[in-house]
Amino acid sequence: MEIREVIEKRRTVRDFKHEEISTEILKYSIENAFKAPSYNHLREWDFIIVKSLETKLKLVESENLNKEIRMDELAKLFENEELIKKEMYLDAIPKQNKMILNAPVVVIVVFKPKKTINKVDRIYDLNCVASAWCCIENFLLSLAEHDIYGVTYIPQHTGKVKKMLDIPEELEIAAIIPIGYKAENAKILTQKEINISERIHYERWK
Ligand SMILES: Cc1cc2nc3c(=O)[nH]c(=O)nc-3n(C[C@H](O)[C@H](O)[C@H](O)COP(=O)(O)O)c2cc1C
Repeated sequence: MEIREVIEKRRTVRDFKHEEISTEILKYSIENAFKAPSYNHLREWDFIIVKSLETKLKLVESENLNKEIRMDELAKLFENEELIKKEMYLDAIPKQNKMILNAPVVVIVVFKPKKTINKVDRIYDLNCVASAWCCIENFLLSLAEHDIYGVTYIPQHTGKVKKMLDIPEELEIAAIIPIGYKAENAKILTQKEINISERIHYERWK
């Protein structure tokens, strides 16, 4: 596929079909993920592939995603937000639990941080996170090429999740990514349109 075609095809999907993903496509996408640029040239990333419902349930539990969500309260929380943002959150938040449980595969992307989070004081120290996200984008694009989609969920209780998955103390989680084929009724949200010419600055800001 042409690069623009794949970039446009990749969209966030939170509603999945109950259909297995082939190991070959998964491996191909991980191989491409590892071709991403890496700040220290070491590609210090790991992928944990989760398929069992038992582990998915533990993930949901570790993240406290099993609470009931009141849509009226949620709508109130976002009432003053830009419509396109509000629409995304009102669709996404109630699906955080199910998207993990229903995805045939959940991929946890792990990276080696430069410094512990309490010692980070410069954007430069976040190069490890930036590199992990370059890797994640390659992964998502490669899946999209094969009609497989995902959603990057960022855990809030990483300590619990790391412990549950036996991730070494010195490593961190970049994202938990439920992936799968799109359900028939999968919701794809409108992307905000950007006037690119307003976002390109020549020589200086103005
Ligand atoms: C850094 C980052 C964090 C995100 N965190 C979440 C998340 O916790 N839960 C979720 O459902 N989606 C999450 N998303 C997905 C975004 O909501 C999604 O990319 C956005 O709505 C744009 O949709 P698109 O990817 O189809 O363009 C995250 C995306 C990024 C890049």
